[in-house]
Amino acid sequence: MRRGLAAVLSLLTGLALAAPAPASEPAPRPFARDPGVEARIDALLARMTLAEKVGQLRQGGYAVGFDVEQARSGIIGSITNPVDPYEIAKIQKAARESRLGIPILIANNVIHGFRTLFPVPLGLAATFDPDLVETASEWAGRESAAVGLHWTLAPMVDLSRDPRWGRVVEGPGEDPHLAGRMAAAQVRGFLKGGIMASLKHYAGYGAAEAGRDYNSTEIAPNTLRDLYLPPFRAGVEAGALSVMSAFNALNGTPATAHKGLIDGILKTEWRFDGFVISDWDSVWELINHGHAADFPDAARKAILAGLDVEMAGDMFKTSLAAEVEAGRVPLARLDEAVRRVLRVKVRMGLFDRPDPDPAAAAAKLFTPEAQATARAAAVGSMVLLKNRWDVLPIAPTVRRIAVVGSLADSPADHMGSWGADGRQDDAVPTLGALRARAGSAVEITYAPGCKPDCRTDEGFAEAVEAARRADLVVAVLGEPWWLTAEGTSRTRLGLPNRQQALLEAVAATGKPVVLVVLAGRPMAITWAAEHVDAILYAFSPGTMGGPAIADVLFGDAAPSGKLPMTMPRAVGQIPLYYNHLPTGRPPTGDHYSSKYIDEEVTPLYPFGFGLSYTTFAYADLKVPATVRPGDTLQVSVDVTNTGRRAGSEVVQLYVRDLVGTKSRPVKELKAFRKIALASGETRRVRLDVPVADLGFHLDDGRYVVEPGRFRIFVGGSSTATMSADFDLAAP
Ligand code: BGC
Repeated sequence: MRRGLAAVLSLLTGLALAAPAPASEPAPRPFARDPGVEARIDALLARMTLAEKVGQLRQGGYAVGFDVEQARSGIIGSITNPVDPYEIAKIQKAARESRLGIPILIANNVIHGFRTLFPVPLGLAATFDPDLVETASEWAGRESAAVGLHWTLAPMVDLSRDPRWGRVVEGPGEDPHLAGRMAAAQVRGFLKGGIMASLKHYAGYGAAEAGRDYNSTEIAPNTLRDLYLPPFRAGVEAGALSVMSAFNALNGTPATAHKGLIDGILKTEWRFDGFVISDWDSVWELINHGHAADFPDAARKAILAGLDVEMAGDMFKTSLAAEVEAGRVPLARLDEAVRRVLRVKVRMGLFDRPDPDPAAAAAKLFTPEAQATARAAAVGSMVLLKNRWDVLPIAPTVRRIAVVGSLADSPADHMGSWGADGRQDDAVPTLGALRARAGSAVEITYAPGCKPDCRTDEGFAEAVEAARRADLVVAVLGEPWWLTAEGTSRTRLGLPNRQQALLEAVAATGKPVVLVVLAGRPMAITWAAEHVDAILYAFSPGTMGGPAIADVLFGDAAPSGKLPMTMPRAVGQIPLYYNHLPTGRPPTGDHYSSKYIDEEVTPLYPFGFGLSYTTFAYADLKVPATVRPGDTLQVSVDVTNTGRRAGSEVVQLYVRDLVGTKSRPVKELKAFRKIALASGETRRVRLDVPVADLGFHLDDGRYVVEPGRFRIFVGGSSTATMSADFDLAAP
């Protein structure tokens, strides 16, 4: 694109971090403030003591033996982590008996379901199916609301390009468009189910340096706005009523006290009128960060940056009132924070609706409908990475199957981390589900090969013997649930401990081997990708994960998930992501090109990739020659199921802005649609991209959509090559 800066089309202007809002900023969604609600809050605020106000800004952590007097005395405004409906009712009753009778907001980490567990969020992202994810979140919301929860500390919308970071399991993967669609779907679903969401962790947590949890992040302001912030904005626009700040420091300022992020972008620019909560005791951590000298300094810096509620810490309790009395924290700021909390309580109906009857809760949990959705979501999340000689689905000629790997019979490892009230007794793991599906027609032998930690080879001989006697081996390997959660950063991403040796031993029998991977992150399973016959990446598929795996392996359902994160060949390639910038020396055979001398530069499997039991062909791509600012780019393509089985395809549209004021990524996902096609069926698929979405941020925070030539790629993964160009005309 050749143009002077004058020709740059500013569709949206944003704030550089901590800069004042420019006058030309177009209006985001208006505050939905209801004067009646605000008047109600005014009346309450007028009656509140300073201690009661501070109380509204404190969230207690629930543990067995929790003292309900905290709720009755009004020193906490919310609580996190209870699951038992009777305990919850007791706490709420005490809060209603407090001097002003202000009800308490009750939260939990409903990350992928409450009692019925759906696939972990990375698996939900792999469905590329926002409608399904919305329905799953609605069930999670219904179950939570039934026990008396109002609020989930989810969704986590932290983008990450680093699978060493264990928390990728809780998030949407590496792409901002996919992440934004998933964020909005979850927020809407939770709300429909009856609970509010908390977008977390604001912001940049997924870029933790070296993939080490809680580590600092360095993100250029334009990258922050192009990649890391859009999913938060999408969640705010979908109706999230709270946002949780992140543990990390962003470019040297801890997110908990980051005025530019909280006050500037979130509250001023996006006009978010819910409240911002810290992460667990992270106000106190300002001292560890070297950002605050002591408790009062920590409390003051956090609240002055715009943070409203402290989770599970004592900084506000010990210091906030004194800071206000000394005039170091304006009373108006304190009142504004309390107003935000009370506004959310009113909006969530806490003052007006009766609390749920704890005795009625049980009947609303783990219902057949919730189980059916969990099974469908698990099926939709599984990514078929390899299927040599169509070894899957399991053929009717297979009479004996050897199931190997202790994860095969472990309910907890199917359910995944952050289990809320998930129960192991509810879950049927893969082994049981395969047995149930196979009936008496197929003999299933189980030989785990090693104990869950797989540190020794003591069971290898038995597993090899079972493989030898079988027609097919199903090896269920990967990460036990505790390797994939908060605080589980890893430097090695292969199968843990002796698992690969076990896989090699059974593969050496020459029997066809199907590897089912349970994991919370992309793993570098390079040996397996070369040597086994089929790989089904199942993430942690939730309570109904076992039956869903059986559905897919036996072909009762076809896999249709696509990778939400690039899978590396080796840890040394990280960070590895599809939407990278071009380099002046793209990788070629030339020594002086951007590559490695000891490893391929390409991923093991790319973002957006996943096979089906059928094949799809793309034809007749239509892209308009020219679009104008304000238009919606309408792209259409014929997609045909060219195989013999029915299947679903995720039709993906990527854009490249060929020449820009700043170099633009080689590809950026801008639209996708999942469609089901019968064998032989062709469908014309239309994908729309608002031209306003084709821009990017400059270093000063301004958003520009630049006229010039763009290239569209359409296909079934980020390596799609079918392409066409169009021009964006100057205004
Ligand atoms: C996590 C949050 C979580 C909170 C409450 C923290 O350690 O970072 O994601 O919501 O605990 O359990």
